[in-house]
Amino acid sequence: MQARENWGSRMGFIMAAAGSAVGLGNIWRFPYMAGENGGSAFILIYLAFVFVIGLSVMTAEFAVGRKTSLAAVGAFKSVNPSWTFAGVLGVVSAFFIMGFYPVVGGWALAYVLKSVTGLLADAGAIGDSFGAFITSPAEPLIWMIIFLLMNIVIVAKGISGGIEKAGKVLMPTLFALLILIAVRSITLPGAGAGLAFLFTPDFSQVTGQTVLAALGQAFFSLSLGMGCMITYGSYLSKDEKLPNNALIVTTLDTGVALLAGIAIFPALFAFGMEPAAGPGLVFVVVPTIFAQMGGFGTILSVLFFVALTVAALTSSVSLMEVVVSYLIDQRQMERKKAVYTTGAIMTVTGILSSLSLGIMSGVTFLGVGVFDFFDILTDKIFLAIGGMLIAIFVGWVMNKEDLQDELTNGGTIEFGLFNVWYNLVKYVIPVAVAFVAVAGIISIAQTGLMIFGLAVIVLLAVFSKKLG
Ligand code: PFF
Repeated sequence: MQARENWGSRMGFIMAAAGSAVGLGNIWRFPYMAGENGGSAFILIYLAFVFVIGLSVMTAEFAVGRKTSLAAVGAFKSVNPSWTFAGVLGVVSAFFIMGFYPVVGGWALAYVLKSVTGLLADAGAIGDSFGAFITSPAEPLIWMIIFLLMNIVIVAKGISGGIEKAGKVLMPTLFALLILIAVRSITLPGAGAGLAFLFTPDFSQVTGQTVLAALGQAFFSLSLGMGCMITYGSYLSKDEKLPNNALIVTTLDTGVALLAGIAIFPALFAFGMEPAAGPGLVFVVVPTIFAQMGGFGTILSVLFFVALTVAALTSSVSLMEVVVSYLIDQRQMERKKAVYTTGAIMTVTGILSSLSLGIMSGVTFLGVGVFDFFDILTDKIFLAIGGMLIAIFVGWVMNKEDLQDELTNGGTIEFGLFNVWYNLVKYVIPVAVAFVAVAGIISIAQTGLMIFGLAVIVLLAVFSKKLG
């Protein structure tokens, strides 16, 4: 086996892991999910899931990765070959998420240029122009491909060369910009209604779907349930404190999501827009804010979409890395070849996905187009089940003493909450996720799609030993 690369520094790891977590999930997806699911109550449920389930699963993933020094599939396989499928499910999830993620990454990239080519000239037309852009046959494809090429270049360079540097420089920029936009947003006249939407919960509207959406969003946003954090943990040095790193990454990720909400909703209400407007939210509300700020707004808009692109990029490279490290570790492929193969296939899925929003919108499978197929399957089934499998694996398959050893760096550091964490992972999380998944899945419209997703997981489990 090739020697394992390591993170250049502690800061480098946190930046890269936070870079994976903070992405389109926080800035594009979180606001529109919150908007579609009634705002505040959804956010509170989301926060509870993040800090009880997400934080524990992230700690578990780091522990599995560092203990085995292997990426997702190899990590499961090395402990028990019957569990190989849980890792492969993660690779499938990463691949599926990359079926739509680069499309949205491409939108972000396109909006950098659009910010200086007239998008902001007519604030009233920004919404329509977004709709026209994403449904057009060629333009979004070009941006999607450029975005994918950036991924290919970074991942081909290897873990500490490319990914780490990109994260270190550009994550803080994003943070600063969001704060700036949030301040502008809350000081707009009429912004109060947006703050009320964010912070006054109405639990009467909560359904099984809301709860599943919050759980899916928590896993998606934290990059959990698919082995990404196992893979990143496998590169982590033996003297890092895993629970602390998990807490830092979770807090940063949640901070950015909330900040994105605070940036968007007050302005949205101030402009009299619809909170449930869907995936266009950030691409319409933020430019509208900037459109009213003159030349300065143009500069800020460029900066914002550059930062959004970079946030998307530091996440998508981690997704691509899950697939690539599977090919390197389990299929003995050379890194460059693994990256180019993966990149080529993702270009095809990305093209289909983008076209499914426009000229191919009539082409559906199990009731949904390609973009939604990838999005719904991963968000509503694969990640939740993947997170549950990791919890079951850690709680019931791995050795408790080994875990304690891993989380306390061989007894050299304290982890006072070890037993709380262990019982959460072993008992509470599997039951809670199963409960939410069942409640959500039965209340979801696309029954056929759900059955298909579950069948994929069962098939992977049956053929587990052949997959490694
Ligand atoms: N966490 C990323 C986001 O919020 O945009 C998306 C993601 C990255 C999900 C990596 C899963 C993953 F493994």
